[in-house]
Amino acid sequence: MRLDKMISECGIASRSEVAKAARAGKITVDGAPVRHADVKVDPECQTVVYCGTPVVWRRFVWLMLNKPDGYISATEDGRGDPVVTDLLPAEYRKMGVFPCGRLDKHTLGLMLLTNDGTLSHRLLAPKSHVTKSYGFRVKFPLSQEDVASLEAGVDIGGYVTKPCQVTLTDEKEGIIAITEGKYHQIKLMMEAVHNQIVFLERLTFGPLSLDPALARGEWRELTEAEILQLTEAGRS
Ligand code: URA
Repeated sequence: MRLDKMISECGIASRSEVAKAARAGKITVDGAPVRHADVKVDPECQTVVYCGTPVVWRRFVWLMLNKPDGYISATEDGRGDPVVTDLLPAEYRKMGVFPCGRLDKHTLGLMLLTNDGTLSHRLLAPKSHVTKSYGFRVKFPLSQEDVASLEAGVDIGGYVTKPCQVTLTDEKEGIIAITEGKYHQIKLMMEAVHNQIVFLERLTFGPLSLDPALARGEWRELTEAEILQLTEAGRS
């Protein structure tokens, strides 16, 4: 691949910065300075040093964010509202990281971000049946009949939701686990039983749980083991 593509995909510098650094003799490939940003390199086996810093090649990155209130699940154009990628260092934005699935503006909790479009697509595909669980609070008490309706599937504007699991921890609070991800799904499911979401927080996504060490707005990279677990979940 091209040297400028490799370095910019690692989030270290833009392509134009790479071109400038190359002209100034500040980039080496296997110890030899290169003067042109368009030379071909093999990131798997060649050593690239940019302005004295070795470039560690990573094609894909996965992050877990504890989404705070008020952020839009997008990479740009929140129409006046902040977007989730505003919470990340520029390095990740330059790597092309985007949210793997959406959470509503006022939904909190576990959000995954990545630049791995293929695995992200697999995890979100309906046939993968990846379970997502959410802690919720509603405005009015939920009856056992409401819970049974939600679990069996309710009509949310012409679509009947798939069976899911609802565990109440209080008459207005609980955890709901769904295997699909329709737009505003839980909000609309609660409306279908004449109720209203007042608090919603994603707790799990497939095999991963929200890291309790992350405060709202904080993020961390997934470990290799967690990425492997996600890869497995995307296979099913
Ligand atoms: N369901 C919703 O209604 N909102 C979310 O953010 C996620 C699931």
